[in-house]
Amino acid sequence: MKICDTVEEVRSQVKQWKKEGFSVGFVPTMGYLHEGHKSLMEKARQTCDKVVVSIFVNPMQFGPTEDLESYPRDLEKDAKLCETVPVDLIFHPQPEEMYKDGFCSYVDMNGLTTELCGKTRPTHFRGVQTVVLKLFHIVQPDYAFFGQKDAQQLAVIKRMVTDLNVDVKIVGCPIIREEDGLAKSSRNTYLNKEERQAALILSKSLAEGKKLIDAGEKQSAVIKKAIANVIETEPLARIDYVDVVDFDTITPVETLNGSTLVAIAVYIGKTRLIDNIIV
Ligand code: PAJ
Repeated sequence: MKICDTVEEVRSQVKQWKKEGFSVGFVPTMGYLHEGHKSLMEKARQTCDKVVVSIFVNPMQFGPTEDLESYPRDLEKDAKLCETVPVDLIFHPQPEEMYKDGFCSYVDMNGLTTELCGKTRPTHFRGVQTVVLKLFHIVQPDYAFFGQKDAQQLAVIKRMVTDLNVDVKIVGCPIIREEDGLAKSSRNTYLNKEERQAALILSKSLAEGKKLIDAGEKQSAVIKKAIANVIETEPLARIDYVDVVDFDTITPVETLNGSTLVAIAVYIGKTRLIDNIIV
């Protein structure tokens, strides 16, 4: 497994692979890898001849008061996890390699990014889209793999690729959870013991929503209220949003129909966690 920190090294390796007729699968990440990331790499391994993983804590997608500095990092441990898949190449650039002096170009969109996480993180998706398009240009993958854990991000990337005619097939992968139901996340490391227990309220509340939907409930307002009621039983939890939106357009729906995303963001102490179900 190669670890590259320059764009040039990645480009020349991928060029070589393409010349030999190999397909390339790509998993973009911010590192501190866990089983959720690994499931994407394994899917890439099954789908493609060569697997590239990027590990880059992208400053552009963090707001000024967010956790860029404290975001956990451990390249050595990440590399070990990648070896087990196995991954062929890790791209681990420094911010200066990705954002040269004078950088001033962005990718943005008018729809999809205003609801859910876009409300409290107004510049987040611009940062995500910009870095993902840059990474696509650098890695030139045939397939790229994204988790449903970040469902709005997955929808945004699919839209971007369609709108801008990017020749990469986007594959969405299911949420990987801890045994007790908590969705795996690099940010779970911020939780102390009490908060870790309290964080179970996210998946519990969604399970309650799912139960209602399975019993035939179609009114978003009723489903949202039921989920919020469960979250409010947890004293350490504070709701950022509980929403029901169309999964493709990320616009609110009043009555469930088609592919619907039920998404929540909840602060547990100072840590903001997200979770969702698609019904
Ligand atoms: P990061 O949070 O590191 O996540 C990288 C990928 O792993 C994303 O596609 C995310 O949805 C997926 N993932 C995270 N936890 C998961 C879980 N429990 N189950 C399944 N998939 C999971 O998302 C980002 O990084 C960044 O925004 C990035 C796309 C790399 C751009 O900087």
